[in-house]
Amino acid sequence: MKKLTLCCFATILALSAVAQPQLTPNNIDKVIKAMTLEEKAHLVVGAAHLNHNKEMAGEVGYTGKIIPGAAGTTYPIPRLGVPAIVVADGPAGLRISPTRKGDSQTYYCTGFPVGIHLASTWNDEIIYNVGSAIGQEVKEYGVDVLLAPGVNIMRNPLCGRNFEYYSEDPLLAGKTAAAMINGVESHGVGTSLKHFAANSQEINRLANDSRLSMRALREIYLRNFEIAIKESQPWTIMTSYNYINGRHASEDPGLLETILRDEWGFEGMVMTDWNGGYDVDKQIAAGNDLMMPGKMFHYEGILQAIKEGKLAESDLDICVKRVLELVVRTPRFQGYKFSNKPDMEAHAKLTREVASEGFVLLKNNNMSLPLKEKKVALFGSTSYNFIAGGKGSGDVNRPYVVDLRDGLINNGFELNKELDEAYTKHITAEKKRLAPQKALRKWYVYDLRPNELQRPHDDIIKAAESDAEVAIVTIGRNSAEAFDRFVERDFMLCPDEEALLTAVSREFHKVGKKVIVILNICSPMEIASWRDKADAILICWMPGQEGGNSVADVLLGKVSPSGHLPTTFPISYEDVRSAKNFPRNVPENGLNQSRFNISNVGKIYDVKNIDYTNYEEDIYVGYRDYATRKVEVAYPFGYGLTYSQFEMSNMKVKECKAEYKVSCEVKNIGSFPAKQVVQLYSSELAPEVDRPAIELRGYKKTPLLQAGEKTVVEIVIKKDDLMTYNEKANAWKLTKGDYDLLLGFDSQTLPLKQKVTISTEKIIPVSTLMKPASGEVFIK
Ligand code: BGC
Repeated sequence: MKKLTLCCFATILALSAVAQPQLTPNNIDKVIKAMTLEEKAHLVVGAAHLNHNKEMAGEVGYTGKIIPGAAGTTYPIPRLGVPAIVVADGPAGLRISPTRKGDSQTYYCTGFPVGIHLASTWNDEIIYNVGSAIGQEVKEYGVDVLLAPGVNIMRNPLCGRNFEYYSEDPLLAGKTAAAMINGVESHGVGTSLKHFAANSQEINRLANDSRLSMRALREIYLRNFEIAIKESQPWTIMTSYNYINGRHASEDPGLLETILRDEWGFEGMVMTDWNGGYDVDKQIAAGNDLMMPGKMFHYEGILQAIKEGKLAESDLDICVKRVLELVVRTPRFQGYKFSNKPDMEAHAKLTREVASEGFVLLKNNNMSLPLKEKKVALFGSTSYNFIAGGKGSGDVNRPYVVDLRDGLINNGFELNKELDEAYTKHITAEKKRLAPQKALRKWYVYDLRPNELQRPHDDIIKAAESDAEVAIVTIGRNSAEAFDRFVERDFMLCPDEEALLTAVSREFHKVGKKVIVILNICSPMEIASWRDKADAILICWMPGQEGGNSVADVLLGKVSPSGHLPTTFPISYEDVRSAKNFPRNVPENGLNQSRFNISNVGKIYDVKNIDYTNYEEDIYVGYRDYATRKVEVAYPFGYGLTYSQFEMSNMKVKECKAEYKVSCEVKNIGSFPAKQVVQLYSSELAPEVDRPAIELRGYKKTPLLQAGEKTVVEIVIKKDDLMTYNEKANAWKLTKGDYDLLLGFDSQTLPLKQKVTISTEKIIPVSTLMKPASGEVFIK
């Protein structure tokens, strides 16, 4: 090692005696020619490999280099004019350290609603605006690439990272990601679309093997990426930790070269997830250009593999070129003088608006909402300890979080005094009780939440009999990367929450007062067994830093909720098609060791759902399954009420060469101004292969429609969108025959339909290169 460094040093000295080409967008090849083999190996390994000091090394998403708290930097080569560039998380806002040693300025970033929340808006324009605001913070805080968005499919409601992701449906996920990427990149900074691919579980995430058919891959787990890439061409992509059919995603040339680049035309650079993958030579050869945050064994491994003839220098050169092509696009390379002063005020306003647009109103008996009542009995520890976002790399260091309690007070509600005092005292005590345990936990581990108030019954009776006019109860759920959620006390209510809801419902209803439930949650939970206890249920997801104010806006009726579910809420966990093929209740220190022990990626065990996961449900994910098997659900995909009612009429389908232009009229027939989402599904009437009963093909949100106002909505789809992937032919196939195009406001209520006929069969063969590594693939 010492010898290597000395020899490297001597070469650089010799080289610096002659004039060195300086990197420009037009002389990348010249610069590569001027690079030593060692410099090339350094460049494709993140700069953390040079410094094992914990503060600097970015073990998971943290580095002290250049911009403290960013997730990593690339390796600089000053003699050739190659600067280090900075990458930082993540999907709900930029994540950097908010404070710096010896510096009185703060560097907080706006905490926006999380991914599942943004996708619930079904509003690409608003998502673009959020992306643009995040992009401005990225640029003004001196970061070059945002490690977001995360577009993985919500295969199971327990996945610990569902909150960061967008949907169970690849079209909604892909389009939302494209809008976000286009927004961020409009500022001349990059994004990293992640985690490529089939990464829908967190337990054993570094070493789990996703085993699935090529059809499920193509139609569900790659389709989201394909749409996002074709519609936004992100600067970079992050490969996932998992194996796909026996091969690490970051080591798969079929995935990274054939599909991503040759088929889809991706022009950017590919980086690993943090410490992802196993054989660096295979990663380079596969077209995974950059190892992040970088380890010395990566650097040494590359040199060794070239020496032994296991890796061609020409393959390394391809990756080097792509890293340099990324570098020259960045603000840092272009000498941009960042201000450290993004427009935090404007972004706080934006996050408040966006959050309420993504709230999903599940139930609103007798127009309980918006509230006419101003005197509130506020229950639930979460009302006093609101969850703005999830934990892990997707967390944001926000300047503040407006709890529901403060949001209500800020907006003119009056809280029952005794309850308010009891909860304030309780939360202070709970915070104190949890502090020692929290101090032992790493920053990225899921949060310990305060318990509910013990023995609240007397307080509840008193509150019901007080002058409080309405009860509001908040239920909270948080989750984080590296862990999946539990069924009991997580997907389900905890016993203390159930007791609280039951008692509040009984006592308030006894005296004719309403009960409103606010769900401050990360992902679906069980609702069917307790929903009768509430008059109205509003999901506010994880709404970002202005959460309490956004909820107050909706409760007051300043704005109607217009969010729709991007994922199904099943009646019970057992109804989820992947339930038997997903880790269930794995304890924090149980079989989840690979997260903390990178050497485990060598795969030692062979435990179902831990080391490998069979995607037995194949393409039948979420509503594709429930709709086809006709399984009753609590709330279907695409569902969401507003404060108004809407009517849909006059469906028209115009066939224009390779497209269908589908339109309808939407009228606000209620008395409240609101927006509505028109959703277009297709259904093949006599399919030659198994197909889901319905598949989402397009959607559009209306502008705000006043009472009585109507608008025409048009959704354009390609005929090719109706294709299915044929395993035997290894091709996309558009089958001749009749299809229904269906329009509605959710996946279960599709009042308008029109038949179209495909009269010419079309077959598009695709590469077979992404073969299973070991024949272990699970095929239905
Ligand atoms: C996460 C990535 C993240 C990276 C850097 C990893 O643990 O999986 O999503 O971008 O850390 O923080």
